[in-house]
Amino acid sequence: MEGASAQADKPLRRLLAYMRMAPGGYVLGGVLTLLYAVFFQLIPLAIRDIVAAFEDAPDAVGRAILWLVAASVFLALARLFSRIVMFNIGRQIEFRIRNDYFAHLQSLPQSFYLAHRTGDLMSRAVNDINSIRMFLGMGLLNLLQTPVLFAGALIVLLPVDAMLTLCALGPFPLFVLITRHYSRYMFQANLAGQEQLGKVSTVVQENASGALVVKAYDLSNLERDRFEDQNQELFRRMMKVGVMQTTMFASVSLVPALSAAVVLWLGGQRVQTGLLGTEDLWLFWGLIGMLTFPTMMLGFVVSITQRGLAALERLGAVLDIVPSIRDREDVAAVSEIKGRVEFRNLTFTYPGSYVPALKGIDLTVEAGSTVGIVGPVGSGKTTLVSLVPRLLEVDDGSILIDGVDLNRMPVHLLRSSIAMVPQDSFLFSISVAENIRYGVPDAHLVEVRRAAARAQVEREIEEFEDGFDTVVGERGVTLSGGQRQRVALARAMILRPSILILDDSLSSVDHGTEEAILGDLEGRRRGRTCFIVAHRISAVRHADQIVVLENGRITERGTHRELVELGGFYARLHHRQELLSELELKEPA
Ligand SMILES: Nc1ncnc2c1ncn2[C@@H]1O[C@H](COP(=O)(O)OP(=O)(O)OP(=O)(O)O)[C@@H](O)[C@H]1O
Ligand SMILES: [Mg+2]
Repeated sequence: MEGASAQADKPLRRLLAYMRMAPGGYVLGGVLTLLYAVFFQLIPLAIRDIVAAFEDAPDAVGRAILWLVAASVFLALARLFSRIVMFNIGRQIEFRIRNDYFAHLQSLPQSFYLAHRTGDLMSRAVNDINSIRMFLGMGLLNLLQTPVLFAGALIVLLPVDAMLTLCALGPFPLFVLITRHYSRYMFQANLAGQEQLGKVSTVVQENASGALVVKAYDLSNLERDRFEDQNQELFRRMMKVGVMQTTMFASVSLVPALSAAVVLWLGGQRVQTGLLGTEDLWLFWGLIGMLTFPTMMLGFVVSITQRGLAALERLGAVLDIVPSIRDREDVAAVSEIKGRVEFRNLTFTYPGSYVPALKGIDLTVEAGSTVGIVGPVGSGKTTLVSLVPRLLEVDDGSILIDGVDLNRMPVHLLRSSIAMVPQDSFLFSISVAENIRYGVPDAHLVEVRRAAARAQVEREIEEFEDGFDTVVGERGVTLSGGQRQRVALARAMILRPSILILDDSLSSVDHGTEEAILGDLEGRRRGRTCFIVAHRISAVRHADQIVVLENGRITERGTHRELVELGGFYARLHHRQELLSELELKEPA
């Protein structure tokens, strides 16, 4: 128990903070619960009156029965409203936690998403938060209510026969022992189950996202086996939870049975010896009987609580991550970015990796100039450009923008002044126009069109049936790879960034389109710094400087002409591509 309660401590504190947001609801819920407890006791009292009336005053039977009916109706009403109030609070807190979870996810850096699986994050957002709500509604309601019911029972029964009351309620502490015993294992079992649910969600999510690959490689069977394995494990872990839950439930239900036996045995004797009236035996019998259900519910609540705590723990594991990329206390008072970028002896290693992806990078890119970055696959190009908008964390002093340490730049300013078209552009399932104006939600359609025109994709968009209103992706048309790249480019261009980063963003467009886009960038560049990562020489040959990255190091740098003369990687790449394009030109002849 110690282990479980120590672990349960922190999540509980988080939960309490949420509960404090709805104090009114809890007061109302508390009052209704008290009322419920009062009517609860009135029922066995009414039964006693009926029995007594039958013995002594048959005239009063009718009135006593009316009492019973009225108490039952009020009990039902109090039960109804206390549940509505408590379940409502549960829903409200669920709503807030889910919003906070989402907002928190948004604040986490790229490295977090590299280390966590989407399916698991989704499972936390859905299943775990659901478990927390169950705990807050049904769980808390019973946790609050049952002790009040027992206190009420003591108040009613003690004056009638203290000895019998103590004996009848004697078995109930057994309940605490039983649930203590089980909850020790249940927390871990639930945690294991919920973790596995996250894994199952991941397989489903990856197969939905990668459906094309699975089909193309005819791996449906393999994936099905993989899913079955994970699902089998889920089944096993959930069965374990289920078995624990039912055995606990069964053991708990023995407690009231034991108590009823005590009432009948001891109470019966006391009636025979005249120490107790028959109607009082009925009162004991009725009240103990009525306590059976709440006691069993409390057993159920113990398991809901363990599941809720396990869910809180899983959620806390994400919520507790402090976003490493946020404004520091020594944030610089900068309101504009001109675009001079300086890398100073930069070495970068991905979290969890042993080999640095970038080593000893020294590079200065003057404001308004263009730098071309080429190099073999995996040489560190994407890594290098991802550091500029601070998608990954670097050491102080290794990157400066306009002479200010990148880590001291206001994050908001960075993100609004730097536009990056990633290598693998993601578009949302919204219209093309909305995708393009993503960074400037109030941009006018004219601006959207202008950006699309500059990205050389306007004509193609207009040819879609719904033009710029065409919905992209899951709910609409599938854009070609080249169209996607250019829509992503338009999305970056509409921002009018001080620094524009194209990470191999023109790889899927033909040569003519590439030239048109670069020509446009060139013409309008005025004061805009450009990073152009490319595998094709044609995309970087006009850049003010070009660097070659190999194995995380800059191995060549200079202008196109200088690098061709140097005779290294760049020159070889250049010659190869020249030969290829000559061949292509000759072919149609
Ligand atoms: N999240 C990561 N964790 C660990 N290592 C990574 C991570 N992302 C990239 N790497 C490694 O860092 C190195 C540089 O990768 P990067 O993506 O920057 O290469 P690249 O030059 O952009 O390649 P490409 O031309 O294929 O786009 C590679 O060895 C890669 O395996
Ligand atoms: Mg790359």
